[in-house]
Amino acid sequence: MIVSSFRTSTAIFALIILRVGALETFTAAVYEHTLILPNTTVTPVSLDDALLLMNKNIDILEREIKQAAKQGAQIIVTPEDALYGWTFTRETIFPYLEDIPDPQVNWIPCQHSDRFGYTPVQVRLSCLAKNNSIYVLANMGDKKPCDPHNSTCPPGGYHQYNTNVVYDTEGKLVARYHKVRGAAILSWFVPIHLLQYHLYFEPQFDVPEKPELVTFNTTFGKFGIFTCFDILFHDPAVTLVKDFHVDTILFPTAWMNVLPLLTAIEFHSAWAMGMRVNLLVANTHNIGLNMTGSGIYAPQSPKVYHYDMQTEMGKLLFSEVDSHPRVSPAYPAAVNWHAYATTIKLFPVQKNAFQGFISRDAFNFTELFDNAGNLTVCQKDLCCHLSYRMLGKEENEVYVLGAFSGRHGQRRREYWQVCTMLKCKTTDLTTCGWPVDTASTRFEMFSLSGTFGTEYVFPEVLLTKIHLSPGKFEVLQDGRLVNKNGPSEPILTASLFGRWYTKDSSSIPGGTSNSATTHLAHTYFIDDGSFADNVMG
Ligand SMILES: *[C@@H]1O[C@H](CO)[C@@H](O)[C@H](O)[C@H]1NC(C)=O
Ligand SMILES: *[C@@H]1O[C@H](CO)[C@@H](O)[C@H](O)[C@H]1NC(C)=O
Ligand SMILES: *[C@@H]1O[C@H](CO)[C@@H](O)[C@H](O)[C@H]1NC(C)=O
Ligand SMILES: *[C@@H]1O[C@H](CO)[C@@H](O)[C@H](O)[C@H]1NC(C)=O
Ligand SMILES: *[C@@H]1O[C@H](CO)[C@@H](O)[C@H](O)[C@H]1NC(C)=O
Ligand SMILES: *[C@@H]1O[C@H](CO)[C@@H](O)[C@H](O)[C@H]1NC(C)=O
Ligand SMILES: *[C@@H]1O[C@H](CO)[C@@H](O)[C@H](O)[C@H]1NC(C)=O
Repeated sequence: MIVSSFRTSTAIFALIILRVGALETFTAAVYEHTLILPNTTVTPVSLDDALLLMNKNIDILEREIKQAAKQGAQIIVTPEDALYGWTFTRETIFPYLEDIPDPQVNWIPCQHSDRFGYTPVQVRLSCLAKNNSIYVLANMGDKKPCDPHNSTCPPGGYHQYNTNVVYDTEGKLVARYHKVRGAAILSWFVPIHLLQYHLYFEPQFDVPEKPELVTFNTTFGKFGIFTCFDILFHDPAVTLVKDFHVDTILFPTAWMNVLPLLTAIEFHSAWAMGMRVNLLVANTHNIGLNMTGSGIYAPQSPKVYHYDMQTEMGKLLFSEVDSHPRVSPAYPAAVNWHAYATTIKLFPVQKNAFQGFISRDAFNFTELFDNAGNLTVCQKDLCCHLSYRMLGKEENEVYVLGAFSGRHGQRRREYWQVCTMLKCKTTDLTTCGWPVDTASTRFEMFSLSGTFGTEYVFPEVLLTKIHLSPGKFEVLQDGRLVNKNGPSEPILTASLFGRWYTKDSSSIPGGTSNSATTHLAHTYFIDDGSFADNVMG
C-alpha cells in the first residue's frame, strides 16, 4: 500500500514537473541582415580597413540586438558572413580574421580585452551581449597558426575557419563552432575569376579535421549550432538532435534560394518539423543573389518567418518558443515515414510517367490530369503516392507528381529520396521542375506519401509567392503529408524531402590535408557548374 501510494505521488510529482517544463518558454530573435559589402580586391586591405568595414556591419547588428533585448528576447542569431560578406581569397580574407580561443578558457572579452591579443571584434560582440543581457550568436573568421613545415599547414601558415561564436548574458564566450560543409574543402588555389561564379566554394576557409559537435546549456534549454550547408548532412546536424538531445538549433546562413525544393523558409521549416527540434534561422539579405528567408521554426509548425525579394531592408523577427519542446504536450509523435505507403497497393503505377528534371536530377513524373485522383509514380525503390482533390482545375496550370531516388546533382554525393507534387512552369510538360513562384490552384485535399528507405524526411509545403502554410498541413504518424483546416491556399509544391545519409558517396576527407586531396576536390567541384545544384555558402 505504502509503496504503491508512494509510486502514485511520485508519478504525480513527475507529471507536475513535466507540466512546468512544458510551460517554460523563452523569447528568441533572429536578424536578417543586409550587408555592407567590402570592395572586391586582389590584394588584402589593411587591418584597420578590415575593422572599419566590420564595424559598419556591427553598428547595424548593435541597433538590432538592442532592439531585440528591449523587446525581451533572451537570445539572438545573426547571419553567416554578416560582418564581411563572401567574395574573398585566402589572402584577402586574412585581415578580417581573429584568433578565437576555445571557450574552455572561460573568457569575457568585454572585461579582459587584451587576454588573447588583438581581438576587437570579439570584444565588441561580447560587450553587446553583456551590455544588453542577451545571448548573441555571430559568425566571424577564425585563424589558427600552424607549423609551415607540416604538410597539413596551408601556405600562409594559418588554418582559417568560418566560425560561429556565442556570448552569454555576461559577455562570456560559451561556444565556438567551425563550419564543416560548403566547399571549404577546395582550399587555397582557386583562381580569382572563378570566385565570381562559385561563391559557395569558400576558398578562403578550411574545414576542421572532423565535424565539431558544439552545444551549450542555458536556463532555457540546451542549444546546438551549425552553419548553412551543414544542414544537408548528418554530422553535426542530425547527431546534435538525435544523440545530444538539444532543444534548439542556432543556424546562421547565407542561403541562396533554389526553387522548387530548396528555398530557405521551405527547407528550414521542414527540417525543424522532420527533426522535431526548434530551429532559429538568420539568413543574409541579398536579393541579387536570391538570399532571403529567415525564421523561427518549432517542431509542430513555423512560428514566424520572413521572405522579401522586394526591398533591400534587414528584418528582425521574434517569437516565444518552448524551452524544452520534447516535454511539451504539443510535441509531435515520431513518424514512420513509409508505414502508409508500403501497405497500400491500390494506385495504378506509372500511369503516363515521363522523365523530367529538377535542376540536374532526373525525376519520374506523372501528370495530375483530372480534378481529383489517386496516383503513383516510382523510381527505383521509391514509390510516391498522391490522393488529391483540387478546388477547381485551372486551365493554364499543370501539376505533376514526381519521384527521385539517387545521388543529387553533378557531384552525385548526397543521396536524396524525394516525393513531390509541384506546379510546372507552363503547361508544357518539359517545364516541370523549373522554378515557378506563382500559382492559383487550391487543393480541397491532398495526401502524399512514399516508400522511403530513410527515416530522415522533411515535409515541405510552399504556397504561391513563396509563403509557408503554418497550421494548414500536418504529417500523420504513418507518414502521410496531408492538408488540414480546410482547403489549401494555391500551392507551388508539397514535398517529402528525404535524405539517406548512409548512401552518400564517401566524402572527401575533411581538411586541407595535402595538395593532392585538394586538387581532387578542386576538379570535383568545378565540374559542378551552376548555382542550381548548390544552394549556398
Ligand atoms: C568601395 O570603393 C568605392 C569607390 O572607390 C568607395 O567609394 C567605397 O567607399 C568603397 N567601399 C568600401 C566598403 O570600402
Ligand atoms: C557597454 O557599456 C559600457 C559601459 O556601460 C560602454 O563603455 C561600452 O561602450 C558599451 N559597449 C557596447 C558595445 O555597447
Ligand atoms: C601536422 O599537423 C597535424 C594537425 O594540425 C598534426 O596532427 C600532425 O601531428 C602534424 N604532423 C607533424 C609531423 O608534426
Ligand atoms: C548541460 O547540462 C546537462 C545536464 O544538466 C549536462 O549533462 C551536460 O554536460 C551539459 N552540457 C554542457 C555543454 O554544459
Ligand atoms: C535567382 O532565382 C531566379 C529564379 O529562381 C533565377 O532565375 C536566378 O538565376 C537566380 N539568381 C542567382 C544569382 O542565382
Ligand atoms: C524512371 O526513372 C528511372 C531511373 O531514372 C528511369 O530509368 C525510367 O526510365 C524512368 N521511367 C520513366 C517512365 O520515365
Ligand atoms: C481514390 O481512392 C479512394 C480510396 O482510397 C477512393 O475513395 C476515391 O474515390 C479515389 N478517387 C479517385 C478520383 O479515383
